[in-house]
Amino acid sequence: MSIISSQTPDADTWSTSASNWWRQAAVYQIYPRSFADSNGDGIGDLNGITGKVPYLKSLGIDAVWLSPFYPSALADGGYDVDDYRDVDPRIGSLADFDKMTAALHAGGIKVIVDIVPNHSSNRHVWFQEALAAPKGSPARQRYHFRDGKGGKGELPPSDWTAAFGGPAWTQVDDGQWYLHTFTPEQPDWNWDNPEVREDFLKTLRFWADRGVDGFRVDVANLLVKDLRSELPSRQELDAMDRSSGTHPLMDRDEVHEIYAEWRKVFNEYDPPRFAVAEAWVETASRRAKYASPEGLGQAFSFDLLMADFNASQFRAIITDNLEQARLTGSTTTWVFSNHDVTRHATRYGLEPLNGRPGKPGVDWVKAGGPRQALDVEGGIRRAKAATLLMLALPGSAYLYQGEELGLHEVADIPADRRQDPSFFRGAEYDGLGRDGCRVPLPWEPSGPSFGFGANGAHLPQPDWFAGYAASTQEADNASTLNLYRKALALRHELQGAETLEWKDDGNEQVLEFVRPGGWHVVANFGTAAIELPEGKVLISSAGIESGKLPGEATAWFRA
Ligand code: BGC
Repeated sequence: MSIISSQTPDADTWSTSASNWWRQAAVYQIYPRSFADSNGDGIGDLNGITGKVPYLKSLGIDAVWLSPFYPSALADGGYDVDDYRDVDPRIGSLADFDKMTAALHAGGIKVIVDIVPNHSSNRHVWFQEALAAPKGSPARQRYHFRDGKGGKGELPPSDWTAAFGGPAWTQVDDGQWYLHTFTPEQPDWNWDNPEVREDFLKTLRFWADRGVDGFRVDVANLLVKDLRSELPSRQELDAMDRSSGTHPLMDRDEVHEIYAEWRKVFNEYDPPRFAVAEAWVETASRRAKYASPEGLGQAFSFDLLMADFNASQFRAIITDNLEQARLTGSTTTWVFSNHDVTRHATRYGLEPLNGRPGKPGVDWVKAGGPRQALDVEGGIRRAKAATLLMLALPGSAYLYQGEELGLHEVADIPADRRQDPSFFRGAEYDGLGRDGCRVPLPWEPSGPSFGFGANGAHLPQPDWFAGYAASTQEADNASTLNLYRKALALRHELQGAETLEWKDDGNEQVLEFVRPGGWHVVANFGTAAIELPEGKVLISSAGIESGKLPGEATAWFRA
């Protein structure tokens, strides 16, 4: 039996101090508009979250991360922010935010908010000011305005395309063009502008002063751009190296100067405020820069999210990520689902990609979600096994609302009810867009919106949601919800130093490791049952019969 060890320096001291609460936290992502609707207007709200604090507490998570709840026209689900220091009146008020934060804190749950620094919305007061101001004015310099090409500037400054389809430049009344990496309603900030930098520091302090414990930083790798010289064409841009820190549009080295400034602000607080970067960068070592203690401190790894349910893929990813964490001094993050991707119960119920390029689940969503192509129960079984494995790993576990109910992706949303700009703008971003994982949660098995609110829901919920309701699952000892609850409670009890030792029993379909204190984990990715090693089973994702762990299941036990 070979033993491999991934050891984090000073792991014990790191984990125990109050300022390091995040290192091995279970963080639950709330998409506020789809979580719980307290006033029956069909849109989830902050009071809805406050009302669900007992549920969150019983789930056993350490923190919630709230996707944007700021005033917004919802051109991109709230990632188009009108005002970074306020609450969308449809979602609540600052007073409601304070009430919610107090209730979460009283329940022992930390609060992380989403900061969207690459772009504002086109309704932001500074963008409105820029539109009203003349070319070359200071107001325009807060964004990326440029003259167009062609005899009269009638052509965009470059042929770049935006992330959700269409051109990346939009022309304004006086003929100039502004840059938007995402929709035209999301103009990119110019981070060379000192006022922009100052204003974000003000925003960070605003929320930190209100008691927020941390920040999730949206597209953290895109802020700094080099638009000084002649702009390259889209083709030239595509050919450029994205991992040298010199690409004109992404992951430029200078972006870390911004986060060094932010770090100073985080460290003004006791405990220091936490931050996690969303940075889809090319290599793990580029990602590590965002996770440095002089910068944001932690970065999402989406490696597991992109993988099949496959032992060797999981093993390689886990080993690599633990090693990267060891080098940065941060902790690893594990994510299967979020508001941007097809839910993992669904991904694992589809044909695996097996190395084919592409984003898992997207083809199926694009095909309209044919039920016959989806192994509904198998997907949930594999998702439970994968989640139980992930919850035993050193580092932070990020969970997305509804995964604790075993929810599948909703693929059959009629075109006239869809909201995601990637659907309307024809991008290949995620098949038919990302609405399918943002459908309001089923709290009850019946009622106008399955207990989400007193009336309807802003995205249509399918009939099959009735079988996934939280209230039904609460009462069922064998439910997915109760598996999550038990696992999260046990995780608290068992978690110690950030180390893991692989055990290798020669079966390629099995991953086995031990955490300090004798916390032993076996994940069977194959379909045949396997003998469990000696010991007391603490929890398993599927029933154990005669000492055997069934196929596609994970168990935790003590030797
Ligand atoms: C967010 C998306 C959003 C995009 C633009 C992302 O990475 O997670 O939901 O559409 O940033 O803000």
